[in-house]
Amino acid sequence: MKLGKRYGILLAAVMLLLAGCGSAREEASDQELLLGFSQIGSESAWRIGNTKDIEEQAAAYGISLMLENANQKQENQIDAIRRFIAYKVDVIAFSPIVEEGWDNVLREAKEAGIPVILVDRDISTETEGLTTCLIGADFYAEGVMAGEYLLRKADALGLEQVNIVEITGTENSTPMRQRQAGFLDAIAGDERMHILESIDGDFLKSRGAECMRYLLETYGEDIDVVYSHNDEMTLGALPEIENAGFTPGSDMIIISIDGGQEAIDVLKSGRINCVVECTPKLGKELMETALKLQAGEPVDALIHPTEAIFTDETDPQSIGPRGY
Ligand code: AHR
Repeated sequence: MKLGKRYGILLAAVMLLLAGCGSAREEASDQELLLGFSQIGSESAWRIGNTKDIEEQAAAYGISLMLENANQKQENQIDAIRRFIAYKVDVIAFSPIVEEGWDNVLREAKEAGIPVILVDRDISTETEGLTTCLIGADFYAEGVMAGEYLLRKADALGLEQVNIVEITGTENSTPMRQRQAGFLDAIAGDERMHILESIDGDFLKSRGAECMRYLLETYGEDIDVVYSHNDEMTLGALPEIENAGFTPGSDMIIISIDGGQEAIDVLKSGRINCVVECTPKLGKELMETALKLQAGEPVDALIHPTEAIFTDETDPQSIGPRGY
């Protein structure tokens, strides 16, 4: 079949779908809230837990959810937002994979009169006022908590020089930028602290393993600390450390972020020293905010959940089930 013919059939199918969607939308009751949500992907246990929480909370609040998974691609998120606009959803929410590149599509949402909520991550736009609010963790505070833990640990062990490798999250994403900034600010005044290298692990387990292999080949036993921006990359890095003949948790201090069940279990086994919590449970705030926007009520511009830190400074065995 020729490409042009194939494309024509595909286009017709999309138009039929949109037409179908349109009539379904017209039949919906005026009271019903339809929320379009564009998720980044399924890169981590955190992300999967976040999607599940949003689905469960939408059901609990009686909100109809159009959920699209962008498979880690910004262009897929932009396409999804355009579909939400075409479908005339009441509220759009999305977790932006990176901070830049959203101006055009968000202007289209604004022109269509559809309020937009940022979930989990922030954006940077040239035009002000394209979104209503951000519901997500304080990533900078998470980085500070990680850095402050390291200062305490270095004191407790009496370390004179501390060589750190950092495996960062997706380049140009809010958690990557802010977890790095918070950590660097927290250790800045301490002359014992040296960053050997920061390397992009893209929040993926496979990349965490690759990065760790490279770091071990390059710096070997000079590495004192692995600061990893999420559990997934940490869990990828740990077997590499062990394969290289080191014991994580004692030969190297391991610091992670998220607090998913698997990482907490490893913390309990002593192979991770510190896990800063980042809760994926943002669904309740999202639903309540969407309902307020539908009712024309004001919403808080910034909603941060309260987060904890789990470390080997206290008995980690008492940490309860995490739920993600
Ligand atoms: O934006 C939150 C981060 O994204 C989580 O730390 C990470 O696990 C996820 O992929």
